[in-house]
Amino acid sequence: MTDHPTIPLPGYREYPVEEMRERVAAFYSEVARRRTLREFSDRAVPRDIIETALMAANTAPSGANLQPWHFVVVSGAETKKKIRAAAEAEEREFYAHRASPEWLAALEPLGTDSSKPFLEAAPYLIAVFLQKHGMLPDGTRVKHYYPTESTGLATGILITALHHAGLATLTHTPSPMKFLNEILGRPKSERPFLLLVVGYPAEGARVPDIKRKTLDEIATFVDA
Ligand SMILES: Cc1cc2nc3c(=O)[nH]c(=O)nc-3n(C[C@H](O)[C@H](O)[C@H](O)COP(=O)(O)O)c2cc1C
Repeated sequence: MTDHPTIPLPGYREYPVEEMRERVAAFYSEVARRRTLREFSDRAVPRDIIETALMAANTAPSGANLQPWHFVVVSGAETKKKIRAAAEAEEREFYAHRASPEWLAALEPLGTDSSKPFLEAAPYLIAVFLQKHGMLPDGTRVKHYYPTESTGLATGILITALHHAGLATLTHTPSPMKFLNEILGRPKSERPFLLLVVGYPAEGARVPDIKRKTLDEIATFVDA
């Protein structure tokens, strides 16, 4: 073992097996209620709720603990308008030219198109950036390990925290997303990862009737 500072494991809790079953089942039914929403209300959401969800995201494991993510929280109407215009321009290209027939067929059951009114209606857009490398105050580059996996994990926790708080999200990926660096003034060393739309559902909001895979389809158990 190298000589590095350690602390006693903080906050770990063991539960009796029956309680473990109840807890994991309760968590499953909580996350199973989450749905990607595409019709948002403009009702305001207090900013501290977003801040706490971001701190939850920041607990994600990351390669070499380098926490290679940055979140830009947009609530201003002017910036949202710019993002909507740029995203819709990319999406029009995507649906008309860039998407392969297979991709368009996969999107068909979701009923999505290039119109993105929720980018202005929802109270928050959280642009998630992946830091390809870090930067010390003196300008030295710090290599990041597994930034994609790490940022994906942090985003999953963010989506789950917002859902747990009673908010809805849309994971939006207008392709390409470079316009987010320009509009939000982020450096080239950061790659836009996705744009999370956050808020309350619009009254009477509906979602696609989708199916989730079964345990047998998603998992294999090797006991030997
Ligand atoms: C990486 C990623 C990118 C996505 N991009 C879009 C998108 O650009 N537009 C959209 O309407 N939905 C997008 N989605 C949402 C998916 O369509 C949605 O998660 C999927 O249909 C399952 O539905 P559910 O989230 O309600 O379970 C994306 C999801 C992920 C994980």
